[in-house]
Amino acid sequence: MSTKNERILIIGAGGQIGVELTLALRNIYGKENVIASDLKAENPLLTGTGPFLHVDAMDKNGLQQTVQKEKITQIYLLAAVLSAVGEKNPLMAWGVNMQTILNVLEIAREEQLTKIFWPSSIAIFGATSPKQNCPQQTIVEPTTIYGISKYAGESWCEYYYEKYGVDVRSLRYPGLISYKSAPGGGTTDYAIDIFHQALKTKTYDCFLDEDTYLPMMYMDDGIRATIELMEAPAEKIKNHRSYNLAAMSFSPKEIAAEIQKHIPDFRIHYKPDFRQAIAESWPQSIDDKEARAEWGWKPEFDLAKMTEDMLKNLK
Ligand code: NAD
Ligand code: SER
Repeated sequence: MSTKNERILIIGAGGQIGVELTLALRNIYGKENVIASDLKAENPLLTGTGPFLHVDAMDKNGLQQTVQKEKITQIYLLAAVLSAVGEKNPLMAWGVNMQTILNVLEIAREEQLTKIFWPSSIAIFGATSPKQNCPQQTIVEPTTIYGISKYAGESWCEYYYEKYGVDVRSLRYPGLISYKSAPGGGTTDYAIDIFHQALKTKTYDCFLDEDTYLPMMYMDDGIRATIELMEAPAEKIKNHRSYNLAAMSFSPKEIAAEIQKHIPDFRIHYKPDFRQAIAESWPQSIDDKEARAEWGWKPEFDLAKMTEDMLKNLK
């Protein structure tokens, strides 16, 4: 692992993943070498931990000037419109999700950046993909605009790798669960809200049905996977579209039962809304054998361990 001479720009650093990834990368590369940026004002969780810049990833010229001025060598692009918000405004979601990755790939090519990270999602899979242990290569017919944009983005990443040699690396994150920064409008957000409500009111109205299984991962594992992928030697990375990544799968009923082991009078009620159809279009579990075999991925958190850690930290 080389920690020397890298200058990292994180775009979307104020979001659910961005905050934790910024803090983790600052520990490795030094706070001055990891520049957090976002369209929004600096997330208070990042204040005092290193430099912050206001950046709009839709503005290619402005972004390129930042890259040149700050002598950036790597970009982590986290800015995106997630699944639930995207379904409410599909054209806006397509515009943001596509333009931002195209801007970053072009800048990576022009400025000869060493590495790019851009996350894809389990949302690339659709109702015709296998529901159980969905493999990395299979039928891919996404039905949400979020999934369509992520799948198109994967193709662009592979294109820039094949055609221009841009070292772009990507993971198909499952729903990520964390207690630090709030989630940004996805279908898996229920599995975060449920912990907050369990502690606050001991009751939760869930927007998914009780038996809706989805692939999920604790943020600690998600951050570690990202850093391990980015630090893996180039010859180990055989996939420049995006790697399947898995840790656990559970339903609202199962996570509620796990929370009840700690808060016995916690109650859950099911009030499915438009997000039910999104969840039903995605696989229930993911096969990530390529990530495990090629760069050694292994999750550490299951549902019980994650629940214990979430409740301990939120208290
Ligand atoms: P988030 O919505 O919490 O954060 C995104 C951040 O990007 C926000 O702070 C937002 O202000 C910023 N942003 C939006 N438009 C921008 C722009 N034009 N320029 C600069 N910043 C902009 O999202 P997240 O959950 O942290 O997700 C990060 C990435 O991971 C996204 O690509 C998302 O699709 C992907 N992902 C997330 C999950 C999950 O469960 N959180 C799962 C799969 C994939
Ligand atoms: N957590 C994300 C969402 O629900 C999946 O990419 O949108």
